[in-house]
Amino acid sequence: MKAKGRLNAICPYFTMFPLEFPLGVLRDATPGQLVVDPFCGRGTTNYAARTLGLPSIGVDSSPVAVALSQAKLANTSPRYIVAAARRILDEVTEPDDVPEGEFWRWAFHPEVLRVLCRLREGLLANCRSDSRKALRAILLGALHGPRPKARPSYFSNQSQRTYAPKPRYAVGYWKRYGLLPEPVDVLSIVRERAVRYYSDERPASGKVIHGDSRKNIFARVARGKRAHWIITSPPYYGLRTYLPDQWLRNWFLGGPPEVEYSNECQLLHSSPEDFASDLRLVWQNVGKISAPGARLVVRFGGINDRKADPLSIIKMSLEGSGFELQTIKPAGSASSGRRQALHFSRPSGEAREEHDIWAVYVG
Ligand SMILES: C[S@@+](CC[C@H](N)C(=O)[O-])C[C@H]1O[C@@H](n2cnc3c(N)ncnc32)[C@H](O)[C@@H]1O
Repeated sequence: MKAKGRLNAICPYFTMFPLEFPLGVLRDATPGQLVVDPFCGRGTTNYAARTLGLPSIGVDSSPVAVALSQAKLANTSPRYIVAAARRILDEVTEPDDVPEGEFWRWAFHPEVLRVLCRLREGLLANCRSDSRKALRAILLGALHGPRPKARPSYFSNQSQRTYAPKPRYAVGYWKRYGLLPEPVDVLSIVRERAVRYYSDERPASGKVIHGDSRKNIFARVARGKRAHWIITSPPYYGLRTYLPDQWLRNWFLGGPPEVEYSNECQLLHSSPEDFASDLRLVWQNVGKISAPGARLVVRFGGINDRKADPLSIIKMSLEGSGFELQTIKPAGSASSGRRQALHFSRPSGEAREEHDIWAVYVG
């Protein structure tokens, strides 16, 4: 089945893999089989499972990733999403907390920022329903991006979509080109996006949680169900910018109103051996809920500024993990989708030598 994949594009994420990759792997899945992604990022694996009618579990240590992946499994409709936004705006008429300073004055029109702060507060107080989860991801997706050519589609002044503007650079740029933030209509953008992403999605089942996959957290989510497919892409060795690059979206989710350089709960990048043993912990934990013969398929590569060989790292991580290496294929081969490298947006983060590593659970 070919997915339209519109919902998958609800918000970009640094280093997302293409939807065709998990869809290609899941060609042989049978109804009811559980799919797991222990580094789910923006939830591409979860969304692929949804389009095939399969239940899925996702785990990520980044709050932005979790918010996006939860929206991939939301069962709702445009009408409910817009109603959720209206309800929050009725309830939170005055925001308690509006960030101040030069960056914020240039990044958003003051009225737009106030509306965003009201929605932020409402969602921080309660984001339990699927409609609120979908609304939250829509707002994250529209938070920063290019200025309109015709109809506005983003809330911010001119920015990248994929990663957040770095305050000093961005303010300098906006000043140099005399770019003032525009008074866009937040609710119209939400409505338009809700229709685009949630008009005809198949019902979803599964759960995405915020957590550290090195810990024993999978049983709590799987509730006795066994995983048959583990499809994932761990951070590439040396790539540690998931949180700082998403600082503005992280602010919307309750984080501080400035760039945060913490790397809490991210894998250890101190040496290839440390990284591999962290990964082994993840495979061992997923193994605890895996059915005999479950497939683990990992898309992995390296980045240009690190010498470590990505394939030796993965092979090392599989030793003693309960998963036995079967095959290694270059990413981008038939039906595995474009290489992840194409989604990197900075020269220093350019991925190289991407491979799809297949292993089987032998216990
Ligand atoms: C390459 S990205 C995954 C992208 C995903 N395949 C997609 O299509 O969006 C790797 C993810 O691993 C997450 N991560 C890093 N360390 C983690 C840990 N210890 N536990 C859970 N997630 C972690 C990062 O936050 C990041 O979202």
